[in-house]
Amino acid sequence: MIPESFIQELLHRIDIVELIDSYVPLKKAGANFAACCPFHNEKTPSFTVSPAKQFYHCFGCGAHGTAIGFLMEYSGLGFIDAIKELSSRAGLPMPEENTNAPQGQYRTTTLTDAMARAAKYYYEQLKRSEKAINYLKQRGVSGEIAQKFGIGYAPDGWQNLGAAFDDYTASELQSTGLVIKNENSRLYDRFRDRIMFPIASQKGEIIAFGGRVLGNGEPKYLNSPETPLFEKGKEIFGLPQARLALREKNTAIVVEGYMDVVALAQHGIGNAVATLGTATTATHVQKLLRQVDQIVYCFDGDTAGRKAAWRALENSLDSLPEKKSIGFAFLPEGEDPDSYVRNHGSEAFERLIKQATPLSEFLLRELASRCDMTSAEGRAKLVSDAKPLLGRLQTPLLRLQLVKRLAEASGFDQREVERLCDLQPITRPALARAPRQAPSLLRPLLRLLLQKPELARQLPLEALPTNSAEAQAISTLCRAIIQNPLPSAGYPALLEKLRGSPEEGTLREAAAELMQNPFAEDDVDSEFAGAIERLTEAEKRRAFAALQQKVSKLGVSGLSSEEKQAYLQAIATRPSQDRSA
Ligand code: UTP
Ligand code: MN
Repeated sequence: MIPESFIQELLHRIDIVELIDSYVPLKKAGANFAACCPFHNEKTPSFTVSPAKQFYHCFGCGAHGTAIGFLMEYSGLGFIDAIKELSSRAGLPMPEENTNAPQGQYRTTTLTDAMARAAKYYYEQLKRSEKAINYLKQRGVSGEIAQKFGIGYAPDGWQNLGAAFDDYTASELQSTGLVIKNENSRLYDRFRDRIMFPIASQKGEIIAFGGRVLGNGEPKYLNSPETPLFEKGKEIFGLPQARLALREKNTAIVVEGYMDVVALAQHGIGNAVATLGTATTATHVQKLLRQVDQIVYCFDGDTAGRKAAWRALENSLDSLPEKKSIGFAFLPEGEDPDSYVRNHGSEAFERLIKQATPLSEFLLRELASRCDMTSAEGRAKLVSDAKPLLGRLQTPLLRLQLVKRLAEASGFDQREVERLCDLQPITRPALARAPRQAPSLLRPLLRLLLQKPELARQLPLEALPTNSAEAQAISTLCRAIIQNPLPSAGYPALLEKLRGSPEEGTLREAAAELMQNPFAEDDVDSEFAGAIERLTEAEKRRAFAALQQKVSKLGVSGLSSEEKQAYLQAIATRPSQDRSA
């Protein structure tokens, strides 16, 4: 657990404008900064960053958060990793997590430095090796594309990296997997006489390599082992290079191999990325769907490729949100995207992607091919085979579509299919906003508190109703402000504290409203006084109405003596127009 005080300190030190600007160039727009939203596709900027309140909000897609939230969303980092990244930016050492952690924990920054240095070395060696250049040329890779992907060459020999590093025995060379120690404690280069493909994280830092033999040889590709920097099944090859094209096309083409990505880029198709010799995982899908609305899988035209497509389908089901779509493009037997685009050209390839088979169709076709559709038993099997897959879908429209098609194919009616598949109504994820209530008196109060947190001390908490999300957010906000007088305990700290809670949504909405319509500084205090007055009035009216209801049921004698007193006093002090109502 990272202490809350550390998170507050960190959020206080980091400037969100500077952070976001280093990923998405921002332009000044009034009191705020703006850009086209990196989280959805748009032409006019609705992504806004508030320097005063240190949060971002997109008025188009609702993306919203602190510096931590931005890194998580943008780079696909987990909460802890986002905090690590920010603390190294801020030069703030992470608090000791666990005193009995193993000795010699590597700082990931020195590891990425080592990888960057190695990549530079390999890149330079490529220029010196006629053999390597010829290999790439013969595969149709131009110098420009080689540069774009940072492709390099690891020369033959056992300790070449000694030329690139002062200390060949340095521990980071081994912990990055660049150098291997054998049983006799001899050190040697992992990559020898191979074309080197650097694998970059979303931040653009090199975290691993894939190295291909120049001709035939085993293994064809040698990859970095899992290291503190590199976890297989999470990373995607070609993501930094594809970023612009992904935004432009709003589609990610997922292929199997490094060379597929490179060859497609060579033919002007920039939105292709590859999983790294592993099946497509749910993490891959989530990462990609943050950046685009559509994924098209285009695997090799062989049995392995078709199996990979089915795995990808299975792993896409859970993470498929509404309005996102998944398609499958199938290549002729024996072709991979690299050979296809070279043999048939980019237009033919683009056509294949456009005509991709939708997920629902691929799913049904595959399932049907495993059943004898001419018999009643076979058709029943179809429905029962579909059951576990349908159950994982969280998108009502797609599920309905599939149910309909299953009904057509099986001869059952729609209801029967739903019953056989045990389909429960889809519950919306917790993120969905709470049901809208009538415009609340509390909303302006919440905005005022966000604008000027000191006001929390003047708020009579007992006057708050207890039944709404706004009231909950206000009381949590006030408690946080009062407990922690640091100015840094402002909005971002609060938002992090409420991460995942039911109040988070209300808070986000109020902050976004405030961003569009801040109160004039001079008006804040009088607005606050007015809001409190209206709130106290409303509370009085509510209490009176409750008493009145009791009286109408039980008569005045049904009230306790305290209630009676309050009731009589209320009648006496109520404004006359109200009394007649
Ligand atoms: P393929 O065998 O389809 O290779 O492996 P490819 O991409 O067509 O390679 P070329 O065209 O012959 O150069 C697909 C991916 O599987 C991983 C690599 O990521 C490769 O790009 N792979 C393959 C390995 O990691 N190791 C291997 O030995 C082979
Ligand atoms: Mn190939």
